[in-house]
Amino acid sequence: MMAPVGEPELQISTDGVITLRPPRPGDARVLVEGRDGEFFKWLGPGAETPNPVACIWLGDELIGWVDYDVEQDWLRSGEVNVGYYLFPAARGKGYASRAVELLLLHLERDTGHTAATLVIDPENVRSLRLARRLGFVQKGEVEKGLFFARRTG
Ligand SMILES: CC(C)(COP(=O)(O)OP(=O)(O)OC[C@H]1O[C@@H](n2cnc3c(N)ncnc32)[C@H](O)[C@@H]1OP(=O)(O)O)[C@@H](O)C(=O)NCCC(=O)NCCS
Repeated sequence: MMAPVGEPELQISTDGVITLRPPRPGDARVLVEGRDGEFFKWLGPGAETPNPVACIWLGDELIGWVDYDVEQDWLRSGEVNVGYYLFPAARGKGYASRAVELLLLHLERDTGHTAATLVIDPENVRSLRLARRLGFVQKGEVEKGLFFARRTG
């Protein structure tokens, strides 16, 4: 994914545990180095210079990213398509759930978008668990994935 053109830049935000920041010079390289087999399995080859809406920080450690786009042809008015990735060592601690919640707050406060959607491979168990944990509701299927939606507010 790429940061959506014309969208308001995310302000640095924290829930007291993790912090979301727009990418800074040098972050793209760390994001590329943090890719593992799960990345390629679920997210494809990835950009040479990734530029997500936000990097996820735990203290002074970059641990992943969250992103959204508005370019999928199946999106309806007000909807964005959200994606996320945690480096392997950061998984299993709730950080991705926290990051998606902070991204939804940003969408609600700073943009006109009213709903977030996820497309998840039926075999991507961790991502399915995250979707359900955050109250996303399955609405059907698109492009061979399960389609989930939730209001941002
Ligand atoms: C999808 C992905 C981000 C999920 O990571 P994750 O670590 O499972 O998700 P979270 O950070 O929200 O952590 C949740 C886990 O931490 C545990 N946890 C511990 N403390 C927690 C807390 N305070 N709050 C919530 N969960 C907590 C939960 O029990 C859960 O573990 P479980 O699923 O084994 O029960 C990660 O697997 C990943 O990067 N996958 C590759 C990329 C990908 O698939 N992206 C999505 C494509 S659709």
